[in-house]
Amino acid sequence: MKILVVHGPNLNMLGRREPGIYGTATLDDINGALSQLALELGCEVAFFQSNSEGGLIDEIQGAVGHCDGILINPAAYTHTSVAIRDAIAATALPAVEVHLSNIHRREAFRQTSLIAPVAVGQIAGFGTESYLLGLRALFSLIEKEIV
Ligand code: DQA
Repeated sequence: MKILVVHGPNLNMLGRREPGIYGTATLDDINGALSQLALELGCEVAFFQSNSEGGLIDEIQGAVGHCDGILINPAAYTHTSVAIRDAIAATALPAVEVHLSNIHRREAFRQTSLIAPVAVGQIAGFGTESYLLGLRALFSLIEKEIV
């Protein structure tokens, strides 16, 4: 089983970026923790980060035929991108949406996700653990062929 992990804009700045909200873990720390968990679960993970909407869409489209599921933190595009939502729907792959912060207790504009309706589920508010919980959830759904 192979999972594509997609990180949206500004997540390359984790560690230095608003640590009071997003914590001090860097993107490498998060990817390292995911790699460790993937080893334990017995699945492969591939990582991609982009600050550009088109780059994210190209990578999501490219997952078809290569990956079994998508773990995605669309970052600010969560709240604005019909195009990323459509790309996920077009792949017909199971996707889990994750956020470091609890978007539902933040500014009103963050409380809407355009991605959630095309995701199997959403995990928000647990920092790095959101990603790890998301990988576990996606792995077990695919393994049990629930999606
Ligand atoms: C985020 C939440 C978004 O609202 C924000 O734009 C981000 C990060 C999170 O992981 O908490 O860049 O997706």
